[in-house]
Amino acid sequence: MKKIKAVIKGVSGYVPDYILTNDELSQMVDTSDEWIMTRIGIKERRILKGEGKGTSDMATIAVNNLLQKTNTSPGEVDMLICGVVTPDMKFPATANIISDKTGIKNAFGFDINAGCSSFLYALVTASKFIESGSHKKVIVVGADKMSSITDYTDRSTCPIFGDGAGAVLLEPTEDDFGIIDSILHVDGSGRKYLYQVAGGSVKPASHETVDAKEHFIFQDGRPVFKAAVKDMADVSVEMMKKHNLSPEQLAWFVPHQANMRIIEATAKRMGIKKEQVMINIQKYGNTTSATLPLCLWEWEKKLHKGDNVILATFGAGFTWGSIYLKWGYDAK
Ligand code: UT7
Repeated sequence: MKKIKAVIKGVSGYVPDYILTNDELSQMVDTSDEWIMTRIGIKERRILKGEGKGTSDMATIAVNNLLQKTNTSPGEVDMLICGVVTPDMKFPATANIISDKTGIKNAFGFDINAGCSSFLYALVTASKFIESGSHKKVIVVGADKMSSITDYTDRSTCPIFGDGAGAVLLEPTEDDFGIIDSILHVDGSGRKYLYQVAGGSVKPASHETVDAKEHFIFQDGRPVFKAAVKDMADVSVEMMKKHNLSPEQLAWFVPHQANMRIIEATAKRMGIKKEQVMINIQKYGNTTSATLPLCLWEWEKKLHKGDNVILATFGAGFTWGSIYLKWGYDAK
């Protein structure tokens, strides 16, 4: 019997309408378009506006579009995993809320929080359920409303993040397409450089934690930058070597969009050209769990059946990893 692999059969995304430009940010904190473009490479990012709107609202739009474009009825979906660090609420899981809002009633699901690697971890997890033969239609979502935990008085973090959601549909195949391999890592000793100080069981929310702005993203940028450059490149090069993939044989590299300098350094180490790299950081910033599916969504028409694709991430935790897949379809 041939081995079952998980193949992506469709991809969808959603970004909110509101565009927060570098010029508008420069009126909020002491920064400039020039600094942000030079140090990070972001021109603008999307922000979800509106009272009572959360991560699941963006994810629901992405999933509804995905169901429609893949001709899938909600009742056919048997699993939904959501990669997210800004869940609608601590519990229940955002996966449950998305399932309810999209009419997915015959599935089980859960959230995965692996910082910016959440979508990649979720995609690998979902692929194992498909490979085992137990699940046939699995939706993997990556969604975050980063503006809900961003301090817009802190110039060292507020230019970086944006809001967005993306989703893919995974199905089984016995053909030579789909997810071929993955490499995942964690190093918990890096947790002190990028985290949310309060709101968990160690430091529950209080007047003091709110006053001290401890519910916002804390990041010590330099050590995160250093580790991201090394680890994302290492894990991508390791994947190429493991599968004897030359730079020319790689159709697309899909990196987490955290900093243009990190993306460029990784591409250089892999020996690939910038034209082989999906980059939309200038438009959306770092949407955390949504960066990879938003890239696949934007590039869907340029992806062809059989294309060799490597995805790679680095995020809070530290977490990092890569996936090697053969793209499964030509978009209509
Ligand atoms: O997705 C999860 C993983 N996260 C990442 O991969 C992020 C990794 N880190 C980074 O991308 C970069 O470290 C940052 C973009 C966060 C910061 O860039 P940097 O080149 O490491 O700058 P820095 O923090 O070392 O700061 C350099 C200078 C400082 O001024 P002094 O001390 O040299 O006078 C900062 O105060 O730049 C200053 N600065 C700013 N200036 C203008 C920091 N933020 C800003 C700003 N505008 N927005």
